[in-house]
Amino acid sequence: MRAGLLRTSLLPGLTLANPVLSASGCYNHGVEGARFGDVKRLGALVTKTVTPRPRAGNPPPRLWETSAGMLNSIGLENPGVERFLAEEMPRALELGPPVILNVGGESLEEFEQVTERVQDCGAVALEVNLSCPNVQGGQLPFATSPAACEEVVGRVRRVSRLPFFVKLSPNTHLVADVARAAASAGADGLTLINTLHGRGIDWRRRRPCLAEGSGGLSGPAIKPVALHFVALVRAAVRLPILGVGGIATAEDVCEFLVAGASAVQVGTAHFLDPLCGVHIVEELEELLVAEGESIDNLSSLEQ
Ligand code: FUM
Repeated sequence: MRAGLLRTSLLPGLTLANPVLSASGCYNHGVEGARFGDVKRLGALVTKTVTPRPRAGNPPPRLWETSAGMLNSIGLENPGVERFLAEEMPRALELGPPVILNVGGESLEEFEQVTERVQDCGAVALEVNLSCPNVQGGQLPFATSPAACEEVVGRVRRVSRLPFFVKLSPNTHLVADVARAAASAGADGLTLINTLHGRGIDWRRRRPCLAEGSGGLSGPAIKPVALHFVALVRAAVRLPILGVGGIATAEDVCEFLVAGASAVQVGTAHFLDPLCGVHIVEELEELLVAEGESIDNLSSLEQ
């Protein structure tokens, strides 16, 4: 291990040991992954979305494997912010990597309320989830309208002393406009992409594979879509981007850095290998040494 080779300056005052993070929702709070090995080497853990009140989530089946990925319709199941802070955040913090806490809600008031409540919980930053396709009838009210995005991000900005990333959706033709709105309302960074609307069909039973009908598609199938939106948004705004979508190898990480991401998140690949992110960190170090490259050379954002 070469000290400092992977060091990643994400935001002013927030430097990570490396640019490989877990993605929200695919690693819970890191505790399950830690049962398989040491997750300390991840650049940061990004927790599953927490909302002001507990949510039971959507009825099963709510996960479905596809030919090149996975459909999910979890519906933001979580214990609510109070139980999360009391029981789950301390366990996440014990694991070692810095924690980026993902927060969500269904109204301006809920986003504001949950953001205010988590300010002193030990997270180094927040990720504000505007883009879950499995709630509110898949309408994504805050991720498809620049004006609505600006309003909610402005509300979060007013109550947040922590830096925050805004997680955007690919399910709109206004991605760049929504990104600009988030930037002008005070976001410190952006995460993209969340999952694409998708559906599996069990034709013999004349039924969708997920109980809710449609869900969100993730995994290798969406990597080119994610690279497209990272590059598009990189050209539109000058905020740091966390790239996510189909990342499973060190080569994938390099592709996202060149497209314009400052760091990446590993999601669905953790269902195949719970230590995938950790293995990517090790591979990335070897790859950069072999190629005579560095994180700064690959990442196009001037700091
Ligand atoms: O259904 C879910 O909990 C998914 C969340 C998300 O994609 O943000």
